[in-house]
Amino acid sequence: MQNLETIIQQAQADIATAKNLPDLQQIRAKFLGKKSVLTDLMKTLGNATPDERKALGQLVNAAKDKIMGFADAKTLELQAAELAEQLATEQLDVTLPGRHQHAGALHPVTLVQQRVEAIFKSIGFTVTDGPEVEDQFHNFEALNIPKNHPARAMHDTFYFANGNLLRTHTSTVQIRYMKENKPPIRIISPGRVYRSDSDQTHTPMFNQVEGLSIDEHATFANLKSILQLFMSSFFEQDVQMRLRPSYFPFTEPSAEVDIKLTDPTHPLCGKWLEVLGCGMVHPNVLAAVGIDSEKYTGWAFGCGMDRLAMLRYSIHDLRTTFESDVRFLSQFGV
Ligand code: DAH
Repeated sequence: MQNLETIIQQAQADIATAKNLPDLQQIRAKFLGKKSVLTDLMKTLGNATPDERKALGQLVNAAKDKIMGFADAKTLELQAAELAEQLATEQLDVTLPGRHQHAGALHPVTLVQQRVEAIFKSIGFTVTDGPEVEDQFHNFEALNIPKNHPARAMHDTFYFANGNLLRTHTSTVQIRYMKENKPPIRIISPGRVYRSDSDQTHTPMFNQVEGLSIDEHATFANLKSILQLFMSSFFEQDVQMRLRPSYFPFTEPSAEVDIKLTDPTHPLCGKWLEVLGCGMVHPNVLAAVGIDSEKYTGWAFGCGMDRLAMLRYSIHDLRTTFESDVRFLSQFGV
């Protein structure tokens, strides 16, 4: 009994020092576990008389209950302390400002492309595309620009070692489409093009949209009226248009198109602005793709979409469209 009393006191003292639940678990095992003093004591009962055994057994069990009582009380105390600590450290300041969700915006050139596609689809054109890595046939030869033709110098071309190139214009798609499809043809083809050129209004990669219409009676008048419709719809205002004679190897006759915006709120209102090149498809181009130029005629145009974006959104430096500056881009959100 003397012994038991000391054990109980020792257990009580130890339990009081437990700083956390794992600590307490160890102390509990020390006094109540399989290898504890109390268990050893129980084992020695085998040698006692039945009466002694009964009396001692009760005493040991009572001691066990006491120790368990201390341990359970301590468990509750430690759990409460843990919770209090958690509440103190993990508290949430609901008065802090919330985190904003930033809505993304489409790039101005993407917006332009979507507009151009919508306008031409609405008048029966198909949107098509072609590869950016091209061969010389599709970029030059089939477009009536043979080797050593001075017009090749107009295109500062990026060549690959094998003679292929990064297409310098979307006119390549005219050739690809006419090889695969029979007239009547009405397509536009927006996409990236590449030239070794870089300043405020030129970047080595830029975006064009090509237009092509081949039919039995395609005329320059058709071309002009479609372009007029395109420009007024695109800029959502009356647009004056003038055609200046020009030269492109793949069209004859050829013209450059200038427009004048009439909305007085637009910063460029009243100025003539050059926007695209166009013309009647050269018979040599039709011949290169096996279309009978006696039966069919066609017109084509090529237009810089980055330039359209600059005009529509009053962007002064083309390079800002490549800088991924969120302050610039966020202006184009809805
Ligand atoms: N491919 C020309 C360029 O990149 C633009 C162009 C002019 C395309 C006249 C045409 C066209 O289809 O008819 O400068």
